[in-house]
Amino acid sequence: MDVLGIDIGGTGMKGALVNSLTGEILTKRFRIPTPKSRKPKDMAKVLNDIVEYFNYKGPVGVGFPTIIKHGVCMATGNLHKDWLGVNAKELFSEASGLPVTVINDADAAGYAVMNYGIGKGEQGLVLMITIGTGIGSGVFLNGELLPNFELGQIPYKNYKKIEAYASNSARKRDNLSYKAWGKRFNKFLELAEIITCPDLIILGGGSSKDFDKYRKQIKIQTPVIPAELGNHAGIVGAAAAALHEAPKD
Ligand code: BGC
Repeated sequence: MDVLGIDIGGTGMKGALVNSLTGEILTKRFRIPTPKSRKPKDMAKVLNDIVEYFNYKGPVGVGFPTIIKHGVCMATGNLHKDWLGVNAKELFSEASGLPVTVINDADAAGYAVMNYGIGKGEQGLVLMITIGTGIGSGVFLNGELLPNFELGQIPYKNYKKIEAYASNSARKRDNLSYKAWGKRFNKFLELAEIITCPDLIILGGGSSKDFDKYRKQIKIQTPVIPAELGNHAGIVGAAAAALHEAPKD
């Protein structure tokens, strides 16, 4: 079945139709910048604009950039604080008039990679790390998702959370070369490794396609590989979640 998957990030909201059986993207990705306010109502309107662009009727899957429990935002991540406690599932369903499923964005990306991509068949503990406005983490044990791990929120020095030190937006903000940023990202991976003792780490999000530019700075023991689905993984995993192939919201 063709399903609309929407990946919501701190800077862009992206959608595409996905074959939810194969994980194949069927259309070009359509992107609208995330409204500057990053407030619930404004973002719900953009979500509906994406639905209308595809002239779509059917279940919608959304990957959302913060903790989501049963459709409700349990934290605000890099969004406006008004999101705290909002039932995103209800808000988006009302805005679009369609049944919407919402899960964490890194969980969605990880779900796609573990089912349709490079993580397929990987046993043990696998971390899917997405690098973007924040740092997201999807954690899988023998292929099963353990939802809402928040490794990007580890406190680090005078940064409130390590994503403020090692995300892609930190690289841009501090005008860092990939080499300099790679050292920071390696610090994050060191902490993730010592806390979770994973068997494999897969990188996703925009910066995963530039892996060769910082590969040498990654010095942890756990194997680290980029996801070949790259930035599409979030859309594909969100679409899969809509059909309840992924854990329900
Ligand atoms: C949020 C995570 C999210 C990540 C990537 C972080 O700020 O806490 O829930 O997965 O950003 O969007």
